[in-house]
This record gives sequence, structure tokens and C-alpha cells, in this order.
Amino acid sequence: MQTMKAVRIHTYGGADVLAYEDAPRPTAGDGEVLIRVHATSVNPFDCAVRAGYMSAYLTYTLPVILGTDVSGIIEEVGAGVITFKRGDSVYARGGVTRDGAYAQYAAVPASDVAAKPPSLDHIHAAAIPHATLTAWQALFGIANLAKGQTVLIHGAAGGVGHFAVQLAKWRGAKVIGTASRNFDFLRGLGVDEAIDYSTTPFENAVSNVDVVLDTVGGDTQQRSWQVLSPGGILVSTVQAPSEEIAKAHGVRGAMVYSSPPIGEVLTEVATLVSSGQIKPEVSAVLPLHEVRKAHQMVEGGHTRGKLVLQVA
Ligand SMILES: NC(=O)c1ccc[n+]([C@@H]2O[C@H](COP(=O)([O-])OP(=O)(O)OC[C@H]3O[C@@H](n4cnc5c(N)ncnc54)[C@H](OP(=O)(O)O)[C@@H]3O)[C@@H](O)[C@H]2O)c1
Repeated sequence: MQTMKAVRIHTYGGADVLAYEDAPRPTAGDGEVLIRVHATSVNPFDCAVRAGYMSAYLTYTLPVILGTDVSGIIEEVGAGVITFKRGDSVYARGGVTRDGAYAQYAAVPASDVAAKPPSLDHIHAAAIPHATLTAWQALFGIANLAKGQTVLIHGAAGGVGHFAVQLAKWRGAKVIGTASRNFDFLRGLGVDEAIDYSTTPFENAVSNVDVVLDTVGGDTQQRSWQVLSPGGILVSTVQAPSEEIAKAHGVRGAMVYSSPPIGEVLTEVATLVSSGQIKPEVSAVLPLHEVRKAHQMVEGGHTRGKLVLQVA
């Protein structure tokens, strides 16, 4: 059996359960590709899996390798794969419940893989998949955001938020974003109005929006109902909105549970990157073996854009 370096958890807990160690190297199953990982990124989802929160909803067999985002080079293709060949530069959304990409190699269904945007290095390509797919599903798959509409994006400078801002601008929407810092960054992304949530109650500054993208939950979600136009929609990535409260406000609420077709959307996103519409922000790069520090940084809750782990 061949081995590789990987970050696994053998038990749930704090960042100290992340173990950088030797693990069996995967192979490409039928319909899969094996990617030699150059970079992966840290999503709050990975921290939630590590802490054991996700095991209430999803089934994990420990030990498991964390990491959903991958950018790298195809090492081998499994039976039935005709869309990719060994040596292709690709990016992908990998394992959610299976072994993921905090490793030197990751096996991913070919349908969840796309050609890497040629203008990006692996570090920046690895920042894209999970967060962009979430923003895409929220804005386009669920809210049907249309040209000329107004969207309020909470956490606009974060992983999901900064891609959501850029996707909404591409769609032709007016974008209002909340943050407590990084305001020049937000303006550079094209935000029409930035609100400092630490000094200004956003509900005093915003009204009549068509879509709220809630990446924060709790009190932020509760105070968001009142800023929607009649018939508007609140889409949350963190907390299922109450149907009764939505109805009482004459609006709709929805939670992002699923992804759009991964390979197809990543292919479209690659064209948006090439045309300059989407630019991933990478605020920190750490080597894979510093994964504990990386998780602690993301759990601080103030990441600008994405934190990437360099593997190769
Ligand atoms: N349902 C799904 O499929 C799905 C998929 C992806 C993510 N998620 C969840 O969505 C959430 C966001 O993910 P992410 O990757 O964007 O996280 P992230 O990058 O860690 O988010 C950090 C951002 O949150 C902002 N923030 C913190 N508190 C805030 C507040 N009270 N109001 C407004 N902004 C605030 C920070 O802004 P400042 O630094 O400016 O304060 C920072 O820019 C996470 O809980 C994640 O688990 C769910």
C-alpha cells in the first residue's frame, strides 16, 4: 500500500485533534479522478466536521481526511472517465463525508471537477470551490437574483460573502454588504454600499431589499426580516429560517443545503475568472502541516476572503 501525508481526525474536538500524518494514498474509483493536490482551503465547514457538529447530520467513518476544496494536477483517471486525462490542471469540490483534500492526493468524482482557470495559480484556484458554489446556490439556485434587484450580503468580506458580492454584481444587482473592517476591499469588489455592522444597526440603514444573504445567523438573521420588500427572500447558509416568521413578514426564507451541479458551475466560474468578473481573495497561505493554526484563524470569525493550505 502506498502512503501519503495527510491531515486526519481520529476523534472529534478542538484544533489539536488535527493530525498531520501518513495515511493510505487513495486510488481513482470508477468515474473518479485522482488529483495530486497542490492546494486546498479551509472552510468553516471543515472546523464544524472536526468539532463533531456535522455528525448530527452527516455520517463519517473515522479516521477521515478533512478538506473539500482542491486545486492540483490529475494523477490518474478511473474507469469511464473521458473528460480528463493525466496531467490536466484542475480544481474541484471534493469530499464532504469521504476522505478530502487536506492531503497529497484526493480522489474526486469527475463530475465535481473542472479545468483550473488558466490565469490562477493553484493557491487562488483552491480558494474558490466550496464558498463560490454556496454563494451561487444561494443567489441563483434559490433566490433567483435578477438584474436590477438589491441584495444585502452579511459577512460580505468573508469566504462566501466576497464571492457572493462578485456574482451579484456580475448578475447586475445592487449590492449592500456588511462588515466590521476591510471596507476598501469591499469597495474594490464593487459593493455599492458598505455598512459597518459594529457601529450601525443595518436595519436602520437598509430597507426594501429583494434578497438577504445571511452568512451569520442568530440576531443578524432575526433583524434581517424587516429590511426585505414584500415577496423578498432571506437565504441563510447557517441557520434554517423560520417559516412562520417569514410568512408574518410576507416574505420567504430558505436554507442552503445542497450544491448546484459542481463541475458545470466551476466551469462557468472559470470563464468568469478569465473575464475578470471573479477574483478570489486569499488573505493567508499556510503549509499543510500548520493546519491547527489555520483552523484557529478561521474560527476567529474575521477571515478576509479565504485561508489556503499549500500542499505541494
Ligand atoms: N449551508 C452551506 O452549504 C454552507 C456553505 C458554506 C458556508 N456555510 C456557513 O456559512 C458561514 C459563512 O461561511 P464563510 O466561509 O463565509 O465564513 P468566513 O469566511 O469565516 O466568514 C468570515 C466573515 O464573517 C464576517 N462576520 C462575522 N461576524 C459578522 C456579523 N455579525 N455580521 C456580519 N459579518 C460578520 C466577518 O466580517 P468582519 O471580519 O468584517 O467582521 C468575516 O468577513 C459559516 O458559518 C459556514 O459554516 C454554509
